[in-house]
Amino acid sequence: MAGSKKIGVLFVCLGNICRSPLAEVVFRHLVIAEGLEKHFLIDSVGTSSWHVGEPPDERGREAGLIAGFDIGGQRARKITNKDFEKFHYILAMDQTNIRNLRQRVPEEHQNKIDFLLNHSASGIQEVPDPYYGGVDGFQNCLALITEGAEGLLETLMVKYFPDHRP
Ligand code: 4NP
Repeated sequence: MAGSKKIGVLFVCLGNICRSPLAEVVFRHLVIAEGLEKHFLIDSVGTSSWHVGEPPDERGREAGLIAGFDIGGQRARKITNKDFEKFHYILAMDQTNIRNLRQRVPEEHQNKIDFLLNHSASGIQEVPDPYYGGVDGFQNCLALITEGAEGLLETLMVKYFPDHRP
């Protein structure tokens, strides 16, 4: 894979305004830190159309900025059929996202879908929906997402870049 086709990584939540924009920015940051950005296609989407075209939630933006990430330029979009073809790893934040994805994913792409946190060692599987809470809920999400993103990159580096040194 390395050197040919890009590795497509898509982060998924419900609205694409809270959790998945943070996952996108954190994972991209980690990939850039390894000098591997040219090998990856990284994006985020929602399974609903509720917030399409909107910028990320202010509370998520604030939690991101506190940790040094700016997600202000992102705009929400809903997953499309093309995304299932284009991306190799489709990583959901919670069980509802998984259910929504499974309802529409073509059979041949079923195995791309997983929980992001299955890549972390925390034993926690879901990044909880922070929509009805404060900035602290988003900070909790960011901590979980960071663990998941680190574990994910580790998995992908072992698989695709076993000899890589940053
Ligand atoms: P997200 O959070 O799925 O992490 O973007 C939510 C955003 C909006 C809503 C729920 C969760 N909503 O009910 O509108």
